[in-house]
Amino acid sequence: MGPAGQALKPSGGAVPRFLRTAAGLAISAGILLAVHASEPNPDRSADADARADALVRAMTLDEKIHLLHGTLGFAYEGRPAPDGAHGGAGFVAGLPRLGIPALQLNDGPLGVRNIDGGTEGRATAMPSSQALAASFDPGLAFESGRILGREARDRGFNVLLAGGANVERDAWNGRNFEYFGEDPILAGRLVTAQVRGIQAEGVISTVKHLVANSQETDRHWVDMSIDERSLREIDLLPFEIVVKESGVGSVMCAYNKVNGTYACENSHLINDILKSEWGFKGWVMSDWGATHSTVRSANAGLDQEFWEELYFAGALRSAVERGEVPEKRIDDMARRILRGLAAIGALDRAETVQQVDAAAGLAVAQRVAENGIVLLENRRGLLPLRAEDLKRIAVIGRRADIGVLSGGGSSRVESIGGVTLDDTPPGTPDALAMFASTGWHHSSPLKAIAAMAPSAGVEFASGDDLDAAVLLAASADVVIVFAWQAREEGKDLRTLSLPVSQDDLIRRVAAANPRTVVVLQTGGSVLVPWARDVGAVLAAWYPGNRGAEAIADILFGRVNPSGRLPISFPRAEADLPRPRPPQPRSDANNRETAPAHPPIVTLGEGLAVGYRWYDSQNKPPAYEFGYGLTYTTFVYSKLTVSRDLSVEFDLANTGNRKGIEVAQLYVELPPSTAELSKRLAGWVRVELAPGERRRVRIAADPYALRAWDASAGKWRHPAGRYRMHVGASSRILPLVQEIDVRDVQVD
Ligand code: BGC
Repeated sequence: MGPAGQALKPSGGAVPRFLRTAAGLAISAGILLAVHASEPNPDRSADADARADALVRAMTLDEKIHLLHGTLGFAYEGRPAPDGAHGGAGFVAGLPRLGIPALQLNDGPLGVRNIDGGTEGRATAMPSSQALAASFDPGLAFESGRILGREARDRGFNVLLAGGANVERDAWNGRNFEYFGEDPILAGRLVTAQVRGIQAEGVISTVKHLVANSQETDRHWVDMSIDERSLREIDLLPFEIVVKESGVGSVMCAYNKVNGTYACENSHLINDILKSEWGFKGWVMSDWGATHSTVRSANAGLDQEFWEELYFAGALRSAVERGEVPEKRIDDMARRILRGLAAIGALDRAETVQQVDAAAGLAVAQRVAENGIVLLENRRGLLPLRAEDLKRIAVIGRRADIGVLSGGGSSRVESIGGVTLDDTPPGTPDALAMFASTGWHHSSPLKAIAAMAPSAGVEFASGDDLDAAVLLAASADVVIVFAWQAREEGKDLRTLSLPVSQDDLIRRVAAANPRTVVVLQTGGSVLVPWARDVGAVLAAWYPGNRGAEAIADILFGRVNPSGRLPISFPRAEADLPRPRPPQPRSDANNRETAPAHPPIVTLGEGLAVGYRWYDSQNKPPAYEFGYGLTYTTFVYSKLTVSRDLSVEFDLANTGNRKGIEVAQLYVELPPSTAELSKRLAGWVRVELAPGERRRVRIAADPYALRAWDASAGKWRHPAGRYRMHVGASSRILPLVQEIDVRDVQVD
């Protein structure tokens, strides 16, 4: 689907109590057009609590402990797959005596992983989470969550390891493509919608990885050092929103340490913040191999160990017998897991395994890509292309004849149609091949472009031979270069430049033919030194199972681009908070190689993450958070601010095409908070016909109107002067107004 039907989608959230009573500057209201997101909340919690309690009462200590640790669900390193396992990342056998089904867990955030499942086990590869974030569309996140949930059910899984909520602190991070960008409110709202979608299909979702898991280098040992305020306002905030707003069943704690203590045995994070302050009722599972102790972890709030069963099997039973872990804590751990199963209906059904509905999955995957692709440059109206004007089209780029790039690691999906892997020695087990190399989902750019321009000659060059590519480019009416940047779990980038000789290739091709379009397939930001030399640039992220079709729709104007950057693109590596990539002291995927001196990474930029960093340093990025062009133009005017800190303004489509604007609200909190910059507080996707003008409302998200008071250890809703900015990106903010808020009631 194109952008149609996306009239207005607010970022959600009710007006906070303190603002409803705040006195301030009241300004006249216009026609209000916001509607509330209407995803059902699938949490049937009351019933689930009672059922979980009854089961726990009926269980022996051994039965309870049995639930608290799990293995891989597939054959690995000589160990056969456990009986009854469906081949997922995790497995806990059921307890038939009590009617408790097996826990069948699988990755993950981008679709249902398929290890050794053959073609039968294929599932939809969704575009990367960055692409979904770029849609700024919680409704779409909900719908794609539903596909993830439904396909997980179809493949026999009842827990999906989805919900990647780590805020992007480092452009280097090899897993940024699994996360929702650099803004905690955007990430929190979209992951909330995704989790609701998954759980609406009767599958438990995780939200992961709690917390500060912002680099892959030395991930099993690294100690992330961060001040409490930044942790609360940035890194924990998406988790807080998801826990409070989605009914998420499980939280996965991270590999790394946080301020000296492993995340999975960090009582401050798990017991104090997650379970006590936020009231989380689900269970905390460790990342795979992230458990480091028995007594410390169990008493810190960890409920379940994956994957090696070193600490929560026999060792936990002994700790209970010694009185070091109270049995009521074991009850609590088991109850949390059972409650999750009851809430999604897993206690009441027999799981069946079947093939997924590929057509349904592919349609949503395409819509996510269409709504998440960002148009970064478009000179002299090169795009959209008009098929009737084109006789020769050159398509250049590695594998652009067969597929689109995917990220590597546990999130890689054996997609519908299959994946081609580069650089993987024959015989590499599937479980490792997912990590090892670049993989291409079979959605062919060459074919999708040819289908759009049936009367043109469409020719392909891989770009390996630069001279051949330049020759082809020179003779074409338009050149489309598919550039790529591979990222994978367990490894951070060493450079933000495009790999191999792609910068050279693009420069030379553009010199031969200025009508060159570059389609970036990346897992995050990348340096684009040639951006002013080419005709157009699209950021297509890792666009998923129907990526090529979505890209072609945008290139030829069937879809007017509406994606906006969920991350900043730096001008140079030197402009980043950490200008050099992390230097590995170990092999991040091999826990046998512990470094002698585990690294401590001080997140000294604190609150200054992403656009907040560029604002506070007064450095312009190459492309800023929230930025993206369309094939039409929008004009903002007549801002009014209400005392509940909602804003209204006129938005007009002044171009000659229907299009979607992602209108954004940023707030500067009162100076007493000493915040470093403005922050995103809401947005709305507005579709307008050519010449149409509309009064638009955005409600400030209550989570964006708080500051953490580190000395008091609580949130404050500061009184004083708020500055409200409205516009098309974090740097294109034509409307601004201040408002005094007094009589603040702190929760
Ligand atoms: C990853 C998790 C994933 C788990 C199971 C770990 O390596 O960090 O995100 O869910 O493996 O595959």
